[in-house]
Amino acid sequence: MKKLTGPFTQILPMTGLPIKGALKDEQMHIISQGGVLTENGRIVALGDFKKLRKENPSAQVEKITGQHVLLPGFVDCHTHICFGGNRAKDYAMRIQGKTYLEIARAGGGIWDSVTQTREASEAELIITLVQRAERHLSEGVTTIEVKSGYGLNIDNELKQLKAIKQAAGQTKASLIPTCLAAHMRPKDFNGSSIEYLTHVLQDLLPIIKQQELTNRVDIFIEESAFNTFDATKYLLAAKEMGFDITVHADQFTADGSTVAVEMGAVSADHLEASTKHEINLLANSDTVAVTLPGASLGLGMNYAPARKLLDGGACVAIASDWNPGSAPMGDLLMQAAVMSAAEKLSTAEVFAGLTFRAAKALNLNDRGVLTEGYRADMQTYPCADYREILYYQGKLKPDIIYVNGDLI
Ligand code: NIG
Ligand code: FE
Repeated sequence: MKKLTGPFTQILPMTGLPIKGALKDEQMHIISQGGVLTENGRIVALGDFKKLRKENPSAQVEKITGQHVLLPGFVDCHTHICFGGNRAKDYAMRIQGKTYLEIARAGGGIWDSVTQTREASEAELIITLVQRAERHLSEGVTTIEVKSGYGLNIDNELKQLKAIKQAAGQTKASLIPTCLAAHMRPKDFNGSSIEYLTHVLQDLLPIIKQQELTNRVDIFIEESAFNTFDATKYLLAAKEMGFDITVHADQFTADGSTVAVEMGAVSADHLEASTKHEINLLANSDTVAVTLPGASLGLGMNYAPARKLLDGGACVAIASDWNPGSAPMGDLLMQAAVMSAAEKLSTAEVFAGLTFRAAKALNLNDRGVLTEGYRADMQTYPCADYREILYYQGKLKPDIIYVNGDLI
């Protein structure tokens, strides 16, 4: 049965906007006093509420009272929210000025989360992952990418990916898994970095394929992780096995996004250290440039050059990078709003980066805009003007959330 919901003070369907490049707010189509007609979780029509009501007399009407701005649900295309324990000790050391190396030597860093995640059972990982996903969903994030990468051996990477699959059945948010077994060379692996990557290619990725645990593979290219040469070999092989690939690129040094573009990765994420060269490469490619303001805030470092990327013509998405180490906050809207003030991003660019441009980073073409045939994943904010959403810098939270047309 068809359902008509409204009237909403404003609807921003995010349709008709280019997938790449700078955007002005005036380019956004806004429907005043709008309604949404849905059926079986999909959008059937969008338009003037009264007109839709007249045209669809048999539709069940769900009346909305008060002021509401309706947007597509947000897509967080980069998180690491499947983990055990926390790294509050790292953070305290960091804000006292300790360096990455000093923290690692004191037992912190990614390896600490690997230890704590290995200690957690699959059931424990599921519980905390579902809690984090539900918190995200309550803040309007209806699709959440989730990486492994704190297992770093066959059994524990599989434990994480299975936990993500199980958790997906326990939350209404869509969880999109990614294998990040190439997060760093595990300290207890007896061999070189390339030997570890070869081991992952031979002994882990085939199982992941066979058990359909994910179709996405990520790698961290960085001095402390994997070099461009080894990463290229790894990504080529993963691509040949049919995986979509994505890269943690240019976080501290600018050498990952070149590989990402050359390999045809769906996205290159981080980019804090990208220079003109990498910006041009990304802008002239189909690889989505994913900025992660939460990692900049967590590490106390510069933002990725989002303004320059957009002006160069890149497709820029914004994700939370929610993880126990560099980005523990996990508030996507707040992070996007704060970055937009520093980087001078328009509301249209921020909303695009949180919706259809982020969906492209996950190769999902059924969400991110509100239009006929797309998923009715939607959220409303209690205000009369869409500009209030970024103005309150993340403190104005959504008050109504729909997933697949269902009220959450
Ligand atoms: O995206 N850069 C590498 N990986 C994560 C951090 C993981 C961690 O510190 O646990 C990131 O920031
Ligand atoms: Fe990350």
